[in-house]
Amino acid sequence: MTLVSELHQDHVNLNKLLEILDKKVIKLKAGSRPNFNLMADVVGYIAKYAEGYHHPREDKMYAFFKGRSNELDDVMSQCEDQHRVLKGSTQTLLNTIDGILHDAVVPMNDLIEQLAAFVINEKVHINFEETEIFPVLDHVATNADWEKVEKELPVESDPLFGEKQAEEYKALYVELMRDINS
Ligand SMILES: [Fe+2]
Ligand SMILES: [Fe+2]
Repeated sequence: MTLVSELHQDHVNLNKLLEILDKKVIKLKAGSRPNFNLMADVVGYIAKYAEGYHHPREDKMYAFFKGRSNELDDVMSQCEDQHRVLKGSTQTLLNTIDGILHDAVVPMNDLIEQLAAFVINEKVHINFEETEIFPVLDHVATNADWEKVEKELPVESDPLFGEKQAEEYKALYVELMRDINS
C-alpha cells in the first residue's frame, strides 16, 4: 500500500464511523437517550487514531513537500491549521462526555451541538484533503519523492498498533450499528 492509499483508507474507515455518528445526532435531536459509554469509546477512538496517528503522518508528509508549489503550500498550511482546530474541538467534546460520565450536569443541547460540530468538522476536513490536497500532491510529487517520503514514513511501521486498531475499529463499528438500529 502506498502512503496516500493508506491515508485514503483511514479516511474511508473514519467516514464510516462519522456517518453513524451523524445518524446518532439526528436521533438525539429527536429525543433519544444516548449510550454515553459507547459515545465516549467512539469519539475516543477517533481522537486516538486521528490525532495520535493519522494527522501526525499527514503533517510529516506535508512538511516533506513544503516549498514545492504555492498552490500546494497554501492548501497544506490550511490543513495544518485544521488539524490544530480539530484537536481542540475533539478534546472539548471528550471532556464534555467525560463530565457526563462523572455525573456533571450538561444540557443535552450542548452535547448535541458539540457532537454535530465534531462530525461536520471531521468530514469537511477529510473531504478537503481528498479533493484539495491529494490531487495536487499527485501532480507535484515524483516517484522518487514517494520512495523517499515512504522511507521516512513506513506504512504499517507498527504492525501491532495497526492490528490493535483494526480489532478495536471492528468491535466499535459492530456496537455502533447495533446501537443505532436499536
Ligand atoms: Fe488530516
Ligand atoms: Fe486525513
